[in-house]
Amino acid sequence: MDLFSQIESTEREELLALRKELAEANYKYYVENAPTLSDYDFDQKMKHLEELEKAYPDMYDANSPTLRVGSDLNANESHSLEAKGERREAKGAVSDRGEKGKGFEQVAHKYPMLSLSNSYSREEIADWISKLPADVEIVCELKFDGLSISLWYENGILTKALTRGDGVKGDNVVENIKTIAGIPQRLSDIGYRVLDTGFLELRGEVLLPWAAFERLNKEREAEGEPLFANPRNAASGTLKLQDSNEVAKRGLDCYLYYMLGEDLPAGTHFDRLQIAKQWGFNISNAVKVCRSLEEVMDYIGYWDIERKNLPVATDGIVLKVNSLSQQEELGYTAKSPRWAIAYKFPAERQLTKLKQITYQVGRTGVVTPVANLEPIQLSGTIVQRATLHNEDFIRQLDIHEGDMVWVEKGGEIIPKIVGKEVPHSGSLEDGAGAYSLEVKGEEYTFPKNCPECGAKLVRVEGEAAWRCPNEAACPPQIKGKIEHFVSRKAMNIDGLGSETIDLLYSQGLLKNIADIYALTQEDIAQQERLGEKSAQNMLAGIEASKQVPWARVLFALGIRMVGETTAKKLARKFPSIEQLQNASIEQLIATEDVGELIAQNIINYFKDSQNMVIIHRLHQAGLQMVSPDDEQTMLSNKLEGKSIVISGVFTHHSRDEYKNIIEQHGGKNVGSVSKKTSFVLAGDNMGPEKRKKAENLGVALLSEEEFLALIEE
Ligand code: IVH
Repeated sequence: MDLFSQIESTEREELLALRKELAEANYKYYVENAPTLSDYDFDQKMKHLEELEKAYPDMYDANSPTLRVGSDLNANESHSLEAKGERREAKGAVSDRGEKGKGFEQVAHKYPMLSLSNSYSREEIADWISKLPADVEIVCELKFDGLSISLWYENGILTKALTRGDGVKGDNVVENIKTIAGIPQRLSDIGYRVLDTGFLELRGEVLLPWAAFERLNKEREAEGEPLFANPRNAASGTLKLQDSNEVAKRGLDCYLYYMLGEDLPAGTHFDRLQIAKQWGFNISNAVKVCRSLEEVMDYIGYWDIERKNLPVATDGIVLKVNSLSQQEELGYTAKSPRWAIAYKFPAERQLTKLKQITYQVGRTGVVTPVANLEPIQLSGTIVQRATLHNEDFIRQLDIHEGDMVWVEKGGEIIPKIVGKEVPHSGSLEDGAGAYSLEVKGEEYTFPKNCPECGAKLVRVEGEAAWRCPNEAACPPQIKGKIEHFVSRKAMNIDGLGSETIDLLYSQGLLKNIADIYALTQEDIAQQERLGEKSAQNMLAGIEASKQVPWARVLFALGIRMVGETTAKKLARKFPSIEQLQNASIEQLIATEDVGELIAQNIINYFKDSQNMVIIHRLHQAGLQMVSPDDEQTMLSNKLEGKSIVISGVFTHHSRDEYKNIIEQHGGKNVGSVSKKTSFVLAGDNMGPEKRKKAENLGVALLSEEEFLALIEE
């Protein structure tokens, strides 16, 4: 292959990989409220994908993330919550999961809910403005960092409130929206004329103010529940709660920024917002009409500083063409209006002193260096710790205790150290010193022994992490394994939080996972902080865990690298622990997702005599270590008589899983599209040939979400 073809094939692969990565990132962000990429990284990748798609038009795909807005629809609710990894307290309590099985009504948007194109530099803004008509007026607004909502007023009464969903249809969360004081349920009569159509739509952003966010996270911390990464995630989680009383307690707020409908008053966006204000809507006072580039830049400069004093989170400025007729002329792309653009503020960054590097030992023995910082206020929260990842990271940035380091906080909960300030060689601000490697101090060395148990650390070749090999006797590893075992996705034992595990461990009552099943009412109740009631709850949780199916028991054992999905696949292939234990390395590797490393970990796990004692005790306690015969039985007959072709790449399940799902609902998975095909389950990057054939034969294409909605998974 010549060099050019090589580049081309790499770029084509990169294009496909980016589509997949961005689709997954969208899912994590919108559905799970657990962002994996910062907004900046997401946008950079999206830009790169757009460039690649321009270069390779033959790879066009209508499902590409460049052409679709992200979706917040809980099409596969159980999946989304499973993947969130959250641990819930007492059963029956109202949690963010809401009541089981109850979802929201999905409603098609009257006008698609688009997003905005993002820019990160003032040059891009200047460039955008330069292409607009000379006499243009630009409305500058704050970009609120919450989630968008579409409010429907029919004859002056609030009838629906839709989330963005996938941009085409959204979840109707009107009962929850009614708890927000700033949203009128009935429009005030003063000045409100029932419009000819009787229909009015307002769009805005629902947010959780900083104070409410901090209060909520404090409560969650006290309850041992996972914290929300930022107010946006908290607002999103809150809006999807099933219990409106709980929503009301959380203190959501809402700013409106867009009015839609027919025969609406006023010819400009700004005037419409002022009218909406008179009707009782919460419109930000920061909205301003600007008539020159200079005015726009002043606005950006002012709010970049002043936003830190606002009670709510903002992540940029939105610029909109004021005249509605000019808006109409400019029109839309597939994803966003051409008459608006967002300027995103740079991630907030601060300089602070690295007081000390400490080391944390996780359940698998990985030792993670942690930066203990002089506390600083960053993006609304106080930051005093940040991860330093591993030895290589510290060496690359040449970081030492006592250094001044730059700390950045994007959309993630864990702040990042992005560089250090080198004395006398400039700063990050002027782009010189922070990444400089010129003034190298003494090379940093990682500790040789485990900070918790003193064992000599080991570093496997090719891995970045140092590990403590003392699995059986290193306290954080033991406690970590127990915490993992009881966690929600594993055995889901309520009432055994990390503090209780600490306590019972220190009393010598919990030395490994099997000890959980030897705990007695007296053991627990005699602990000062626990008492009879906690003992009863805990024992009930322990008893209930005996019904947890084999796949989850396998995941709970905590075999290195055997995550939830791998455990499911293994459990399907080896329906009993005995079969798994007797499997050869070749048989293990023949399982989907299992490579040599995982296979070896499984073999090592069963070779260890202490593990075998634990398994024996768990078996005696009555845990499920065999799949019931009926596991493969039907879930429904919704797909009876249907021949379904699977094509493309999917986000929620693998192709194999979809094959199983189809069969479990009575359908048949077939290989190629023909007249007899009922529909194609079409993922990302579906083959163009298949698509063409399906279109020619009039065979419907169902997206992953549509399919899951069909079987109501
Ligand atoms: S206008 C068609 N104005 O930003 C234009 N959006 O990235 C609709 N947002 O989905 C959006 N503050 O959730 C607009 N003042 C503002 C905004 C705003 C926050 C959000 C909104 C939108 C997202 C686009």
